[in-house]
Amino acid sequence: MSQRTHASLMGTRILLGISGGIAAYKSAHLARLLKKAGAEVRVVMTEGAQAFIAPLTLQALTGEPVRTSLLDPEAEAGMGHIELARWAELILIAPATADLMARLAQGQADDLLTTLCLANDAQWFMAPAMNQAMWRHPATLENARRLQDYGWRLLGPDAGDQACGDVGPGRMLEPEAIVNELLCDLSKTASKPSDPSPNHAADASGLTITITAGPTREPLDPVRYLSNHSSGKMGYALAQAAVERGARVRLISGPVALETPPGVERVDVESALEMLEAAQKAAVDSDIFIGCAAVADYRAEQIAEHKIKKSSDEDALTLRLVKNPDIIATIAENAVNSRPFVVGFAAETRDLERYALDKLTRKQLDMIVANDVSQPGLGFGADENAALLLWHGSEAAPGRLELSPQPKTMLAARIIDTAIKRLSATDEHPSCTSSQVT
Ligand code: C5P
Repeated sequence: MSQRTHASLMGTRILLGISGGIAAYKSAHLARLLKKAGAEVRVVMTEGAQAFIAPLTLQALTGEPVRTSLLDPEAEAGMGHIELARWAELILIAPATADLMARLAQGQADDLLTTLCLANDAQWFMAPAMNQAMWRHPATLENARRLQDYGWRLLGPDAGDQACGDVGPGRMLEPEAIVNELLCDLSKTASKPSDPSPNHAADASGLTITITAGPTREPLDPVRYLSNHSSGKMGYALAQAAVERGARVRLISGPVALETPPGVERVDVESALEMLEAAQKAAVDSDIFIGCAAVADYRAEQIAEHKIKKSSDEDALTLRLVKNPDIIATIAENAVNSRPFVVGFAAETRDLERYALDKLTRKQLDMIVANDVSQPGLGFGADENAALLLWHGSEAAPGRLELSPQPKTMLAARIIDTAIKRLSATDEHPSCTSSQVT
């Protein structure tokens, strides 16, 4: 398979797969846009897709016969399905239903489209589209994660009003946004012609990424401390995603009960002051610094040398606390050209965007990951999380990317990919920053 060397769809052989969802009516416009961009387009429709849009429509728009069946002797005589799979330089499925995602995640080949996907080794994109509850279902999210691991690049879904009357994540990205995302992705591939991997995750080779994770423990005396419930799962998932993308990863970790991801250099610390010292040392040669730790805001002014004794005649004990340094703000206050790209977290229970934007500016961060921790089942200690990513965009509006509830491992991958993109590519491709839900 030849590597493309420029970010254009001109002459690209695209196999457009359409599965059976209401968004299939938008695929006609998508086929038109792809043709207009100079691509050669052949369409394969599942049985369900044909209930929403007629193959003849797509045939008229692409000028090519539309394939619908694996067992069609006439079509096979023209171009066999393996030949068709080899022909495609890029597979784009839009809309991709929950059922199709499940079948692809299982490696099934029970119709023409899934068979072609299994037999093709080029670049794979899909634009999921389904009801919001179906998208949020753990089975769908697990399938999405697995498909990403296999090298599928998920475009969207978008959030908003749905055909069924629900509101939430699951809308198919608009055809224009799909084409834009394709171009952005291809431009990245084009700038790395030697990378043979079909995996569309960002490439972090050559980058050093430092991540703080977990809680801090602020000692009161030799046996007691102040701390919080942070599990460290999000920070460890970020470390795992970063190392999978080829980065050198340093994980500065408070006390947690988690295994170190293979390949990650872990530095164990307890208190905020220890974490600050390790962070400052690591930041010197880091490209990206991510402050994911739940750092205690205060520590005891004085740590008692001996165990604090219970007093028999006092019902109350007064502890005097002093403020801990803000680790991430300390890293970020260095001159922009001598510090890493700094990513902070903001856990909020209300006015998520407003408070997160305030933190982004006040702490001089480059990007912030905002979580609404009032949502049950998400955030602290949970395996799932949702996030709103914000960065300094144009003067008119900040850059934003909304990530729907998903396993922390998947969310971590999107956060790392976005940080890498923000660090490098977005200056060249500002149009790749449109808001969407993934
Ligand atoms: O101000 P707040 O604690 O909400 O800010 C959260 C962000 O700041 C997180 O990225 C956290 O790791 C970082 N932080 C820090 N040092 C502190 C407090 C918070 O690095 N003392």
